[in-house]
Parts: sequence; structure tokens; C-alpha cells
Amino acid sequence: MTRKRIALLGPPGAGKGTQAKLIADKTGLCHLSTGDILRDEVAHGTEIGRAAKLHMDRGDLVPDKLIIDMIHERIAKTDGFILDGFPRTVAQAEALLKITPLDLMINITLSRVEVIKRLSSRRVCRECGKIYNLLFNPPKSKTRCDLCGGELFQRDDDRPEVVDNRYDVYMQATAPLIDFYCERGLLCEVDGAQPTAVVLERIMDLLAG
Ligand code: AP5
Repeated sequence: MTRKRIALLGPPGAGKGTQAKLIADKTGLCHLSTGDILRDEVAHGTEIGRAAKLHMDRGDLVPDKLIIDMIHERIAKTDGFILDGFPRTVAQAEALLKITPLDLMINITLSRVEVIKRLSSRRVCRECGKIYNLLFNPPKSKTRCDLCGGELFQRDDDRPEVVDNRYDVYMQATAPLIDFYCERGLLCEVDGAQPTAVVLERIMDLLAG
């Protein structure tokens, strides 16, 4: 595949991380997730991690400047990528325009009710990052990863009260990007309520088009 520059948009739990990993496996494109990078910084107790944790624990966005400084180099270094969780505000989208153009913004849609159902049952492997769902994509054991045997954990920001705030923050700060990218002729929409394999097939069709 030619070096595509794509980004995934959508509410928390829409399936951006799940799809980005699958697309990266299929295409070799570099998966850049601001959420994963931030969680890694928090786990290592870095200055960025300490500054971000307060916002993440509440389900609020981390300030634009910190995010843009953090991701700028990583984007500039690669010529083909899947952005997952960035940009998330109009200020971030404008900053991205100055770093590189995008070929496609894929908006994965999901209702608030489905978001809450999915996030309360999400589990993630502490070792390899594989994402499971106790309802929709259960691991063989509730506590161990099928792939590497690592411990499965529930993200701190998947608590119900935090998920509620994350959805509100998405509607207020991130949903305006739908118009931003629509106006630039870059937006495609995929129904995220379909099974994972169907969502992936639709995205691969869009990438091939
Ligand atoms: P981040 O990690 O980016 O969280 P998010 O955008 O809220 O997205 P999620 O990771 O919760 O969901 P997802 O869409 O990736 O869904 P997943 O594939 O896991 O950000 C976390 C925090 O970091 C933010 O709140 C903010 O504080 C900060 N942050 C990050 N980026 C930032 C930025 N740019 N600016 C400012 N702050 C930033 O799937 C969810 C569940 O559903 C899983 O269990 C999965 O198995 C299941 N599932 C997936 N697809 C399907 C399907 N088709 N059918 C059934 N189940 C499915």
C-alpha cells in the first residue's frame, strides 16, 4: 500500500484502537495513539505523564500544547501513519495541517448507550496492549491475555462517571472536527456498531479507493 496518512475519529469506545491495530497489521502503516503514548508516560512517571494524569483521570482532554509537542516529532518522522485519538480539537487539527496533510479522516460512529456498554466491559493486556471485551470479544481467561499471558486490567478512565464525562467532552470539543474535515472533503463515515471484521472491511475498502 502507498504511504497513506489517515486518522480515526469517533467517541470513546467507538473502536479506534481496535481498528488502528488491525489496519497497522494489514498495511504496515505506523500506529500513533496519543492515548497509548500518554498512558506510557504516566506509567513511567515522566514529566509529561504527571502533567497529563490529572486530566486523564477526570476524563478531560490534556492541554493542546502538551499533546502537539508530544506528537509532532513522531508524525514528522514517518511518511505513512494511522492517527488514533489525534487530532481531537480544532486547535490540534490546525496544528496537524502545519505538520503534514491527511489523505483521509475516518469517523467511526457509535451511540452513547453502546459506548457505555463497551467501555464498562473493556479489558486491556498490560504487556502487549491487546484490547478485549468481556461481552463482545472475550479472552479465554478473564484475567490473562490469550496472546502473551499478560495480566488483563480495566483502564482507570473506564469507570462509569469518567466515561460519562469523556462522552460529553467528545461532543463538545471533538465532534466539531466532523464539519472541519467534511468541509475539506476528507471525511468518510463508518458505522462502528457493526462487528469488528465488518468495520475493518469497510475501512480497508476506503483505503483502497
Ligand atoms: P484515548 O485512549 O484516546 O481514549 P478514547 O479516544 O476515549 O478512546 P478509547 O481508547 O476509550 O476507545 P477506542 O475508540 O480506541 O475503542 P477500543 O478499540 O478500545 O484517550 C484517553 C485519554 O487520554 C483522553 O480521555 C484524554 O484525557 C487523553 N488524550 C488522548 N489523546 C488526546 C488528545 N489528542 N488531546 C487531548 N487529550 C488526549 O474499543 C472499546 C471496546 O469495545 C473494547 O473492549 C473493544 O474490544 C470493543 N470493540 C471494539 N470494536 C468493537 C465492535 N465493532 N463490536 C463490539 N465491540 C467492539
